[in-house]
Amino acid sequence: MRMVVLGLGYLGATHAACMAELGHEVLGVEIDPAKRDSLAAGEVPFYEPGLPDLLSKHIRSGNLQVTDSYADAADFADVFFIAVGTPQKKGEYGADLQYVDSVIEELVPQLTRNSIILGKSTVPVGTTNRLTERAAELAKDIGVEIAWNPEFLREGYAVRDTLEPDRLVVGAFPGGQAEAIARDIYASAIERGTPFLVTDPSSAELVKTSANAFLATKISFINAIAEVCDAAGADVRAVADAIGFDTRIGRKFLNAGLGFGGGCLPKDIRAFMARAGELGAAEALSFLREVDNVNMRRRTRMVELTRKACGGSLLGVRIGVLGAAFKPESDDVRDSPALNVAGQVQLQGASVTVYDPKAMANSRLLYPTLDYATTAIGACESADVVIVATEWNEFVSLDPFRVGDVVRQKRVIDGRMCLPEAAWKAAGWEYWT
Ligand code: UGA
Repeated sequence: MRMVVLGLGYLGATHAACMAELGHEVLGVEIDPAKRDSLAAGEVPFYEPGLPDLLSKHIRSGNLQVTDSYADAADFADVFFIAVGTPQKKGEYGADLQYVDSVIEELVPQLTRNSIILGKSTVPVGTTNRLTERAAELAKDIGVEIAWNPEFLREGYAVRDTLEPDRLVVGAFPGGQAEAIARDIYASAIERGTPFLVTDPSSAELVKTSANAFLATKISFINAIAEVCDAAGADVRAVADAIGFDTRIGRKFLNAGLGFGGGCLPKDIRAFMARAGELGAAEALSFLREVDNVNMRRRTRMVELTRKACGGSLLGVRIGVLGAAFKPESDDVRDSPALNVAGQVQLQGASVTVYDPKAMANSRLLYPTLDYATTAIGACESADVVIVATEWNEFVSLDPFRVGDVVRQKRVIDGRMCLPEAAWKAAGWEYWT
């Protein structure tokens, strides 16, 4: 099938390449010239395992083309995916929908045939209704059907999550074509038995925000338990392992530590609270404020722990920070707990050197005043404290003796509870989580 993907960021570029892999003919629209040129040359402008091969394969085969032209897009196909960003509004909790809105404003007047628009971006409940009304005003003697088809991919596993999703959800108005089109697009996954759920648009929008809110709540739950464990001298890892065996609870997303960051969970729970407020249901989601609070406390607690490990003051000490990405297998530093802690520690007077296997360029842009090393060992040189802030395998498998040779003090803070604690202690390290 011919289709257009509007917006080629983490979500859109992955979706476009994966749709081409499924055998569809795809035109991607990206208005940022640097991103577009890189993608058109078959190069992924961010780190996502498996995506470079897929992208270059389909740019070469011609199944995937890239443009900045909405006119070309309107001409190319009758099926359109919206994959643009929905960041947090500046100074407010709500989602900024300007990019989603501008897709509709630009695209719909140029359509000359009946078309289906499937939204993938994470949007507040009610958005499909609103966009449908606006599209009807903008459309010129044609029918434009909008449905929501939320995306659940995780960065780092984006290709696999898109090609082998654990469920497909389509929120469509009754009587339209969206369900049939989606069944066609995702035929191979549906044949393999992937659950395919059809709902009304508002429910589909809520599936996505509820899923992310649940995941955020699960992480903050275990981090709240970690606070109690600290106070009681208990081990939150043992608690998580044991409660995780209950299949109703499950062990996934119960890793305590620095908490959640990234371009999705933090802004999605805030947008969800803001939208519930607009709908007069603020009270229902008031617990998400606490989820957010617990999460942010993890960062300030880590700064405090670092200060204590240094004997009460960060003035003039050297801190090595291992990790800058918001999680491993990603170069994304949006709302990264690692960089946030590095920045706060620096503000309190420490000299901070950061190393990350993939996120160095993005970190330098966001936090230009931090120092950066080109290796993990380099970041630890002469450090008074080493903080592990992202659980990259490279850090988990570090030799504590080798690191011990270069630091000033053997003090490590395992911000992701990922290091082999006994091995580090055996190598003479003071160890905190
Ligand atoms: C998240 C969701 O997991 C995806 O299902 C969703 O599609 C995506 O947002 C989105 O809305 O686009 P992602 O942001 O890639 O995916 O990252 P996660 O794997 O969910 O991790 C989020 C954060 O939680 C990371 O900072 C991670 O370190 C942290 N985390 C995760 C924990 O602190 N503990 C855990 O046990 C798990």
